[in-house]
Amino acid sequence: MVPTRIILWLVLVSPFLWHCYMANEEVTCSRKVPMRQRREVISIKDFGGVGDGKTVNTWAFRKAVYRISHMRRIGGTMLYVPPGVWLTGSFNLTSHMTLYLAKGAILKATQDTRNWPLMDPLPSYGRGRELPGGRYTSLIHGNGVRDVIITGEKGVIDGQGEVWWDMWRRRTLRYTRPNLIEFMHSSDILITNIVLLNSPFWNIHPVYSSNVVIKYVSIFAPHDSPNTDGIDPDSSSSVCIEDAYISTGDDMVAIKSGWDEYGIAYGRPSYDITIRRVRGSSPFSGIAIGSEASGGVNNILVEDVSLYNTGIGIHVKTNVGRGGYIRDVTFKNVYMNNVRKGIRIVGDVGDHPDEYFNRYAVPRVDGVNIKDVWGVNVQQPGAIEGITSSRFTRICLNNVKLWGSRNMPWTCRDVTGAALGVQPWPCAELTTSFSQGYC
Ligand SMILES: *[C@@H]1O[C@H](CO)[C@@H](O)[C@H](O)[C@H]1NC(C)=O
Repeated sequence: MVPTRIILWLVLVSPFLWHCYMANEEVTCSRKVPMRQRREVISIKDFGGVGDGKTVNTWAFRKAVYRISHMRRIGGTMLYVPPGVWLTGSFNLTSHMTLYLAKGAILKATQDTRNWPLMDPLPSYGRGRELPGGRYTSLIHGNGVRDVIITGEKGVIDGQGEVWWDMWRRRTLRYTRPNLIEFMHSSDILITNIVLLNSPFWNIHPVYSSNVVIKYVSIFAPHDSPNTDGIDPDSSSSVCIEDAYISTGDDMVAIKSGWDEYGIAYGRPSYDITIRRVRGSSPFSGIAIGSEASGGVNNILVEDVSLYNTGIGIHVKTNVGRGGYIRDVTFKNVYMNNVRKGIRIVGDVGDHPDEYFNRYAVPRVDGVNIKDVWGVNVQQPGAIEGITSSRFTRICLNNVKLWGSRNMPWTCRDVTGAALGVQPWPCAELTTSFSQGYC
């Protein structure tokens, strides 16, 4: 028998012990896809790979992945990439594998754009994002896979995107540029401890996927590189993005769910997404939702974010023709320094796939909570501009201080909600009472 006084002691003290335990534990959403050791390890060298920076290793990677998918070893297989420069074209990953980049391993995309593989457009976009028709396959691609890890000792994946950016600038692109890493229809994906450089287009694109963790990742592309978004979760759920540094030529993170009539028809929302402890800079948005959000976006938490030298800090953007909804989004504890605009929630951003979009497909924006925001060197504090036929509702700003030299005002229209402790004062459309339960 355990003496009663010990039971009593445990009952009294355990909440305190639990609290101490929790205080040492970092808040995280990353446990949903844990790191796994693989039973079997193979090296890219076993498949004829040469890491001299000149040999093209596409076939070595494809053979290695083919081997993993056909042997199907219990516990999965690690494909080890030793130190060296490994030039390669696009290749697919398969289920139950880890792509491991050793310290000093650089996986470099070839610049052979003419032989780059093409694939069908995403059904939720109806066409390539940039140009009608198909699109180039991402450098590292996974379709219908599960239990896949991309990791290592801060190894580098370099997209060598300059040739693609130049084609975009000269308007000589024939199809939409490739992403650096894309997973479609996949689940249980972990991307951690790697560095991404110079993506041709978006860096990491999980689409129609769930249970995705992206943690301890650094992403760099020049600020003048076109459309080099950092991480774009698209029609995906249960996504955790944590502890990232992102400095690119377009949005650091943008949550999407398809484009106009194609996204509405496909109807696949993005939901249950956490973005935490992300730092960086971008000439466009820090953290964005939209503008392609036609399948709907809901239940998003963004917290502990620091933005420097950025265009728009917090950006919720949609457009007439998008349809869908953006609902239950929380931003909290955001620091900004040197941004053009602190907060922008607007309904007139972005282009259309073709002329068949529905002018009556107006999006709903409802329940956007922004609290504990501190900005310095902010040129304009913010704009909240809804759509006349679909006012933005339950927009709540709480303890938002955006300081700048110019003293520009907020601009608001077609919006209802509340504001408390906001400086400079936002606008008359937002009430100052918090009797509404949502704020
Ligand atoms: C990669 O996967 C796609 C399907 O997403 C397939 O069409 C293509 O043939 C695969 N490529 C290779 C080299 O296996």
